[in-house]
Amino acid sequence: MRRLDISSRGAVLASILALAASPASAFYFPGTAPTSYKQGDAVPLFVNHLTPADSQYDPKLRSVFSFDYYHPEFHFCQPDGGPKEIRESLGSILFGDRIQTSPFELRMGKNESCKSLCQATYEPNDAVFVNSRIYQGYDLNWLIDGLPAAQLLKDPNTDQPFYSPGFALGMVNEGTPEFNNHYDILIDYHEASKDSYRVVGVLVDPYSMHDSNNCNDAQSAVVLNENEVNKVSFTYSVYWRESPTPFATRWDKYLHVYDPKIHWFSLVNSAVIVVFLVGMVSTILVRTLKKDIARYNRLDQFALDDFGENGDVEDGVAEDSGWKLVHGDVFRPPKNPLLLSVLIGNGAQLFAMTALTIAFALLGFLSPSNRGALGTVIIIFYTLFGFVGGYVSARTYKFFHGESWKLCFFYTPFALPGLVFATFFLLNLFVWGRGASGAVPFTTMLVVVVIWFVISVPLSVAGSWLGFKQAAFDPPVRTNQIPRQIPPAGGYLRPLPSMALAGVLPFGAIFVELYFIMNSIWFSKVYYMFGFLFLCFGLMIITSAAVTVLMIYFLLCAENYHWQWRSFFTAGASAAYVFASCLLYWVKDVSWTSWTSGVVYLGYSALLSCLVFVLTGTIGFCASWLFVMKIYSSIKVD
Ligand SMILES: *[C@@H]1O[C@H](CO)[C@@H](O)[C@H](O)[C@H]1NC(C)=O
Repeated sequence: MRRLDISSRGAVLASILALAASPASAFYFPGTAPTSYKQGDAVPLFVNHLTPADSQYDPKLRSVFSFDYYHPEFHFCQPDGGPKEIRESLGSILFGDRIQTSPFELRMGKNESCKSLCQATYEPNDAVFVNSRIYQGYDLNWLIDGLPAAQLLKDPNTDQPFYSPGFALGMVNEGTPEFNNHYDILIDYHEASKDSYRVVGVLVDPYSMHDSNNCNDAQSAVVLNENEVNKVSFTYSVYWRESPTPFATRWDKYLHVYDPKIHWFSLVNSAVIVVFLVGMVSTILVRTLKKDIARYNRLDQFALDDFGENGDVEDGVAEDSGWKLVHGDVFRPPKNPLLLSVLIGNGAQLFAMTALTIAFALLGFLSPSNRGALGTVIIIFYTLFGFVGGYVSARTYKFFHGESWKLCFFYTPFALPGLVFATFFLLNLFVWGRGASGAVPFTTMLVVVVIWFVISVPLSVAGSWLGFKQAAFDPPVRTNQIPRQIPPAGGYLRPLPSMALAGVLPFGAIFVELYFIMNSIWFSKVYYMFGFLFLCFGLMIITSAAVTVLMIYFLLCAENYHWQWRSFFTAGASAAYVFASCLLYWVKDVSWTSWTSGVVYLGYSALLSCLVFVLTGTIGFCASWLFVMKIYSSIKVD
């Protein structure tokens, strides 16, 4: 009952947000209110796109493109008068859903065996197309009453059965592609009250039957001959099974966590790293810094007391190595202050969006039963947090004594969103060019651009204006006129080694979750481990902050005061590891049959790494900023 409350509340909230975000009423939010059917009522079956999947026989990803169900070469049976589009939320469309009507006729509670659908003709080139999709392991995705048609799989570790959305287009049997033309549809229903039934589970068993007219011919399969014209009949059977599962928990069997042990193991692993790191940083902060500060202040006092008598005491302090020496330079603005401010503004926007989305997901608002909710919420939050981005970038720029204000106002809303959109657009052109129908429709792109211009850009400019109006942060020490010479430093303090060393830790906190996220993106699987994701995100923030503060402390001790860019790059270096892990995933789990898939995969991996770079870099910079402000405000400088 509680769960139902949460999901319906989520639906209400999300629909309010969705309404607020969509300028036209073309997109609406599908609610999760239960639909009740009477005995014999028609239950519609909708078809979604075809997606590449990992079959049990061949767990490799062979393509990244998805196809419209009514893509001409498939020749799937169409309803009378042609298929109609089902309206969807913006997030659902952006994440690839293309839902349309189908010719299947399902009546609540009425079993039917071997209903004929239609006969289709496959020319040789169609046969080539379909066969290669079977080799690539494509899945069909259907929806009945909002539930995905699934295959019953067993968890190899626990032997627990669960529903895995999607079922195979065909099967490769000893090198021959067999095309499925008969579907056994098993629907679980639950009697909510007298003559009021609800759909609570959908399984589809596809078969390939050469003579499908009597539906018993499991012996000879349909193999599309690539040299002649093939005729294939499509049939289906429907079986309704009474189930004790109530509507409120019908998604449970779909939201299967594959291997919870791996998640816990990685979580404990990264927690150990974090404890170790935080221990190290706090030792330094508490012990070393306290000692440093006490010593500096004592020497200062000493120098003042004995001024005149012992003239070289002050020189003695100045000779002292350590971070105090650079107090006159540590707040000197970095090179390219505009670029850094814009990056940090965008990072703050990304951070706010990610944190709030994960928090929302954790509260159960974004369960997969709200189709497309995740995508929609991401867009809404990102749009609204344009304000945060503008504000942070302006305040940082002011702190850096920036002067090109117009550029700062302009670049902040356009830099990262522009990059994301450009990549998205280019890769979509690729998908279009490839002839796959999984490309995001042009109108949807247009809607996204309109939302961005009408809401996000003004909010960002307003935020920048507010930040610009406020007084700059006051640095605790004055900056000298003449920059100090930086002594050469070796070892791990050089830029590349320090980045390589520091970046690996935040990456270590997220890489297992990252693997699961990539699996769910490329294999279109349900991702519902937001609890783990939340903890990992927290650990990543702490590690990024701690490791960067540590590096910056060592850097300042080596009398190098260029900490601003360094802190950004030190934390951001984890993005390089993210990209490397995408490449590793390619080597391990992917086997392309065309180079275009590789291009799209690399493009999205690069984009993902870029976002991780800006996000972690911003965390590193902000942590270092706080740290530097703190330590220099606790020493006395004449
Ligand atoms: C429909 O088929 C299912 C599965 O074979 C069976 O359990 C059920 O009793 C059948 N229902 C009717 C009304 O025949």
